[in-house]
Amino acid sequence: MQKYKDLINKAIAAREGSYSPYSGFMVGAALLTSGGKTYCGCNIENAAFTPANCAERTAFFTAVAAGERDFSAIAVAGWPKGGAPGFAFPCGVCRQVMAEFCRPDFVIIIAAGEDEYKISSLRELLPESFGPADLA
Ligand code: THU
Repeated sequence: MQKYKDLINKAIAAREGSYSPYSGFMVGAALLTSGGKTYCGCNIENAAFTPANCAERTAFFTAVAAGERDFSAIAVAGWPKGGAPGFAFPCGVCRQVMAEFCRPDFVIIIAAGEDEYKISSLRELLPESFGPADLA
């Protein structure tokens, strides 16, 4: 959808910020708020491996730290450094972070290029999830 072209291009641009010396897998994400603002993130790795943060979570945590709580879509662009663009779906931890802040119809766009992408909803990628309502 042309509607998401700008978001996809922001994710591709954010991918350039990736700090991924260990995996060589560069990921960028662009998160759209319901108010129309965009927050970007990239994956950030660590010599101790475990502290690595995915691009999606970098974008979410940046937005939440800025006071945002309401989101409509995220575009993700991830493929190996110097390699051919491919589709990288969010890991399970990132899907759970999305479930904390987003409704089931939250749009997840997996992009391998401006005109090459797959669209899913959070409901599809994380069905039967555990979330804030379970603790209410
Ligand atoms: N990664 C992301 O940033 N997002 C994803 O959706 C999948 C994986 C990162 C984590 C790590 O830095 C690298 O890609 C390889 O797993």
